[in-house]
Amino acid sequence: MFSRPFFVEVAVNAVDEHAVMVGLKGIVLRAGDMVKDAATRTRKITHKGRVDLVTETDIAVENMIKGELSRLLPDSDFLAEESSKDTKLGELTWIVDPIDGTTNFAHGLPFVANSIALWHRGRIVLGVINLPLLGELFSAVEGQGAQMNGKPISATKESSIEKSLLATGFPYAIDDHLETILKHLRTLLPLVQGIRRPGSAALDLAYVACGRYDGFFESALNPWDTAAGLLLVKEAGGRISEFEAETPYEFGSTSILATNGIIHDELSQLLCCD
Ligand code: IPD
Ligand code: CA
Ligand code: CA
Repeated sequence: MFSRPFFVEVAVNAVDEHAVMVGLKGIVLRAGDMVKDAATRTRKITHKGRVDLVTETDIAVENMIKGELSRLLPDSDFLAEESSKDTKLGELTWIVDPIDGTTNFAHGLPFVANSIALWHRGRIVLGVINLPLLGELFSAVEGQGAQMNGKPISATKESSIEKSLLATGFPYAIDDHLETILKHLRTLLPLVQGIRRPGSAALDLAYVACGRYDGFFESALNPWDTAAGLLLVKEAGGRISEFEAETPYEFGSTSILATNGIIHDELSQLLCCD
């Protein structure tokens, strides 16, 4: 017996990843145009928490993305930050962060991403991260490598922690994480080349994938922050886990460590040491 109508099963089985990727790139570029346009005007900001912001552009971009993706792939559903954050991942679920880096966007900084991934039967199979204010579009199809603006990208080959450039981020619930963050910075800053905090986890993961950073670590991210970036890093030859290297990163994990793979175990030990 089919648990869903037969025509839905056919559609789910028949995902043509390349055709969907072509449509997806068009949609994420359109999202980027909305961000670029809004960046020239005064942003209308609402507070979700003390430092957690949402702008009218986050909402408008998410609505556009959901409408267009529904037409591109009927029978898919959505896990999206601003309107459907509690959706359980199903057969075919789009995972959407309409604007990753909203605080940057609100302050006129260019480190802003549109991030969309497609979950199909237990795996991320497609991912795109668009950086509209920087003119960079990252994409990956499972098993087929990662690209930036259509050209193949790969993680670095750096093996020395001392020469490694890392990135991190700070959760909005900063009081819950402050001591751990300070401990990590105290441990790592004297050992590595530097640590950046651009303010967009999607950008951070894309930059690991294209070899600008050797590694990235952060606590308390959500699926929409990481879904597309996960696939980019894996397809670029990098490695992802929780801070504990042997623990696979899953949605719901409280930490993420993404590296070129070579420095992964050493960085994990430094993050996990007391
Ligand atoms: C945030 C960014 C930031 C990270 C935060 C995220 P948002 O997402 O990715 O870099 O440090 O933890 O919540 O709110 O700009 O979509
Ligand atoms: Ca985000
Ligand atoms: Ca967001």
